[in-house]
Amino acid sequence: MEKFYATTPIYYVNANPHIGHAYTQIALDVLARYHRMNGSDVFFLTGTDEHGEKIEEAAIKAGFTKGNEKAFVDGIVTNFQNVWKALDITHDNFIRTTDEWHKKTVQEILIKVKDAGDIYLGEYNGWFCAPCETFWTDTQAPSAKCPDCARSLEKIEEKNYFFRMSKYQEWLIDYINKNPRFIMPEYRKNEVLGFLREQLNDLCISRPKDRMSWGIELPFDKNYVVYVWFDALLNYISGIGYLDDKKRFERYWPADLHLIAKDILRHHAVYWPIMLKSAGLELPRTIFAHGWWKIGEEKMSKSKGNSVDPLRIAGELGVDPLRYFLIKAVNFGQDGVFSEEALISAYNSDLANDLGNLLNRTLTMVEKYFNGISPSASLIYPDKNLQELSLGIKEDAYGIFDDIDKFLKDFSLNAALERIWRLIDRANKYIEKAAPWKYSKEGNIEAIKIIIADLLDALNISAIALYPFMPETSRKMRLQMGLTGDITKIPMNEIKKWRMFPIGIKIAKAEPIFPRIQPPVQK
Ligand code: ME8
Ligand code: MG
Repeated sequence: MEKFYATTPIYYVNANPHIGHAYTQIALDVLARYHRMNGSDVFFLTGTDEHGEKIEEAAIKAGFTKGNEKAFVDGIVTNFQNVWKALDITHDNFIRTTDEWHKKTVQEILIKVKDAGDIYLGEYNGWFCAPCETFWTDTQAPSAKCPDCARSLEKIEEKNYFFRMSKYQEWLIDYINKNPRFIMPEYRKNEVLGFLREQLNDLCISRPKDRMSWGIELPFDKNYVVYVWFDALLNYISGIGYLDDKKRFERYWPADLHLIAKDILRHHAVYWPIMLKSAGLELPRTIFAHGWWKIGEEKMSKSKGNSVDPLRIAGELGVDPLRYFLIKAVNFGQDGVFSEEALISAYNSDLANDLGNLLNRTLTMVEKYFNGISPSASLIYPDKNLQELSLGIKEDAYGIFDDIDKFLKDFSLNAALERIWRLIDRANKYIEKAAPWKYSKEGNIEAIKIIIADLLDALNISAIALYPFMPETSRKMRLQMGLTGDITKIPMNEIKKWRMFPIGIKIAKAEPIFPRIQPPVQK
């Protein structure tokens, strides 16, 4: 059995999740459901990043005193968990960096890396951006502003421990060049290679406790805690049992996919592989960095106050419409501008009109012409027009699973959805062009049987193909079509047959699955 171990970032718990975080979760959920459906042994890991200066500041701001950060983060973590549950996210484990086994893992790896000669005590003299949890040198930040977020930097001069990244620079460049799927999309790989053309600095990986103590203690010096990124990245191994479940770790490591956004590409594509190399562990197969959701020109971000709450959107429009819109609206990898108008417009045209009406019209005809029982259709066509339409839709339906497979292996999530809509559009046009009402007037019931059998097939295939993207919709569609059986157990990549819709079953009552929504009145 093939395995698929895939991760999202673990999010900072300085505020509640927004659409940007929901996006990564949903995208990975699509892939996880897809792989499970096709029989892979999937492990989907997500979680929260709970230590460091940024979280400590947020805790203090929320009225918690130093030493009580845990009580603060516990509350936010619950919110994250509730939102993922509401959005139908099917992670297999939720790791928290305050978990005991995670802390032990971090300490164990620190010792390994130190034993390899890759940690040394030195003098840190440079800049630090707390909101980004990132160090900068004088040359990188000449005006004392963060090159990433433009906020003012703090000057830091103190004794600290360093991780000898420079030693691995040539090795990493070589590795990236030899493994074209290691960093994806390709333009992100080129970004990383560009960054690696400059001399790589060793990474400052400690904080003196007298300045910042909310972190994991260094196992070789109790006056320090470890830098939050060194701590956080290790969730990808602690979360599958590096220390507490060795069998599980052996089964799933290395990760098949770390899905992230471009803001944390350098941490994943430079720090992380070097940490693994130094600790003697295998490297992940693929790091894929998607783009940013923006509000206007600005990245949606917890600290900018322009967050859109995924729970509110899901409450107003439904979970699946949100999942659909986020995946469909941008080429996976690129940025997108979020707006509720665009969401409502996609809802009305693609979901209410295209998909919802197709289901409704088809089931209404099954009721009207066949008393709600799915008909068996002849393979002999009454005329050329119907033959062409029937063979045409068959072609679109037949090839869909191979196409989706190809798209998802390339992380073209939006292209997979577009491919499904090609079939849905084709089915709607089929009804217009075949005009079953004309055959009805002529009393040609055999022709209507063909049309209905083709439409039911197209709808069932669409429902199966949609499952990873819109699980609830997929179930609803199949229930209305009178189909039972566990949708998650249908191996999508094995369905190659046309006219596989069962004959003689009773369909359920047709109910609109996506009632039209009135766009909000412009003020
Ligand atoms: O960076 N558009 O956590 P974080 C798209 N704790 N995706 C977005 C987004 C947006 N506007 N905003 C956030 C951290 N994301 C670290 C990660 S991993 C070992 C440690 C998503 O809370 C996207 O996946 O800042 C991005 O990479 C991540 O949230 C950053 O979350
Ligand atoms: Mg961030």
